[in-house]
Amino acid sequence: MNAGTHDIEKAAGVLRAGGLVALPTETVYGLGADAENPEAVSRIFQVKGRPPSHPLIVHIGGSEQLDDWVREVPATARLLAEHFWPGPLTLVLRRGPRVPLEATGGLETVAVRVPDHPVALSLLAAFGGGVTAPSANRFGQVSPTTADDVRAELGDAVDFVLDGGRCAVGVESTIVDVTSEIPTILRPGGVTREDLEKVLGHPIDVPSASQVRVPGQHPSHYAPRARVVLVEAEEVAAEAARAQASGHQVGVLLPAALTDADVKAHTVVTVPGSMSDYARRLYGFLREFDERGCDLVVASLPAEAGLGLAIANRLRRAAGPRTVV
Ligand code: TXA
Ligand code: MG
Repeated sequence: MNAGTHDIEKAAGVLRAGGLVALPTETVYGLGADAENPEAVSRIFQVKGRPPSHPLIVHIGGSEQLDDWVREVPATARLLAEHFWPGPLTLVLRRGPRVPLEATGGLETVAVRVPDHPVALSLLAAFGGGVTAPSANRFGQVSPTTADDVRAELGDAVDFVLDGGRCAVGVESTIVDVTSEIPTILRPGGVTREDLEKVLGHPIDVPSASQVRVPGQHPSHYAPRARVVLVEAEEVAAEAARAQASGHQVGVLLPAALTDADVKAHTVVTVPGSMSDYARRLYGFLREFDERGCDLVVASLPAEAGLGLAIANRLRRAAGPRTVV
C-alpha cells in the first residue's frame, strides 16, 4: 500500500519532467506539480477543470524553507509556522519571486504549507523544490482521502499516484492570512481556531463565507453529485421521510445522538460522535452516498467548535447553490 523509496524517486522524476503526481497529505490527497514550472502548474488547472484565477498552495519540506518562497515573514507567521508545521495549517504571505503568477492565480500573495505526512515529506525532500497542489479532485467536487478516490476522480489524467493510505485528518488545511497585522482565518480546517488562539494569545476572526473575496472560495464546493439539504438535528428523520416519499433516493448523515431505527431513507450513516473521527470520514460518507445512487442527502450541522467548525463549513458549501462561476 504505502509508497516505497522507489516510488518516491519515480514521483520526484515525474515532477522534474514537468508531470503531475498525486500525493497523500495528512488532510486530503493533492495533485502536485513543480511549483516553479509554469506549464506544469497550468496543467493542474486543465486536469481539475479549475478556473486559472484560483490560487494554489505551495507545499514545502520544512519551515526553514519558508523564506525562499515569500517576500517577508512577519513575526506572527513565524510563530504559527514554528508551532503548527508540519501540519494542516496554510499561511498566506506576500509572494516571493520564485513563485510564478500561474500558481497564485495572478495574486501578489502566496499560500504555503508543510504537510505532515511521511510520503509527502519524503517526496519534497527527494524533489528538493516546492510542489503546488490543490486537492486531487475535479473542480467543486469532494476531495479525495484515499489513493483509490484519486484514481476514480482523475484516472489517467495524473501521471503518477503515490499511495499513502487513508488521510488522518480528512478535511483540508486551515488557511490563515498573515499579510496584515491582524491574522484572519480564510478557511477553517485541520488546525482549530481554539488552537490558533492559544498560540496567538488573542481571538482570531473567521469571516463568513460571503465576506471572503478570495477566488477559490465559492458557495458550492466539496459537493457530492447528490443534492445536500441541511436541517436542524431534530428534523432530520422527518425531512428524510418526506423526500423519500416524494421519490428521492435519500442518504442521511444522522447525528451521533440519534438512533437510526425509525429513519426512512435509502442509506443511513450515523456520524461519529468524535469530531476528529467525523472529519476523517466526512468525504468518504459523501462519496458513499453517490456510489449508492442517492440523489439527495439530508444532514445537520455539528456544533461549530473545534473541528466542528471545518465540518460545518464543508457541509454548508456542499449544500450551497450549484451555479459555479
Ligand atoms: O489541505 C489542503 O490545504 C489541501 C492539501 C492537498 O494540501 N489542499 C487544498 O488545496 O485544499 P485547494 O486548492 O483545494 O484549496 C486551496 C485554497 C484555494 O481554494 C484558495 O481559496 C486558497 O487556498 N488560497 C490559495 N492561495 C491563496 C492566496 N494567495 N490568498 C488567499 N487564499 C488562497
Ligand atoms: Mg479543493
